Amino acid sequence: MFTQIDHVGIAVEDLDAAIKLWSGFGLTDVTIETVEEQGVKIAMLPVGGGGKVELLQPLNEQSPVAAFLAKRGPGMHHVAFRVDDVVAALAEAKKQGFQPLTETPRRGAGGAQIVFLHPRSTGGTLVELCQR
Ligand code: CO
Repeated sequence: MFTQIDHVGIAVEDLDAAIKLWSGFGLTDVTIETVEEQGVKIAMLPVGGGGKVELLQPLNEQSPVAAFLAKRGPGMHHVAFRVDDVVAALAEAKKQGFQPLTETPRRGAGGAQIVFLHPRSTGGTLVELCQR
């Protein structure tokens, strides 16, 4: 089902400060995008091999990332795996007993089609299926 790790999502309170922090690892190629549908402002930092760090700052208090920050503080939020066909991957994941957060894919950063699997069904990790 998975073809590679697409990105690691990290919840942050201050996007500018987080971008500065991650530039310390040499990640200076930054693409910033607001995704209203997910309630987040995102910075994508390629790390090579197609993998990326995705920094997520909530746009408002209603954002799921705001709830995450309030509960757990800044840090790792989800792992996204690349799939060729997100609808097929979602159907297969459901067949395997994983529970999606939404029944249909949503638009993610960079025009990706994404769907999340509930951490309660994955042993504690929020998993994103990501089709580019
Ligand atoms: Co993501």
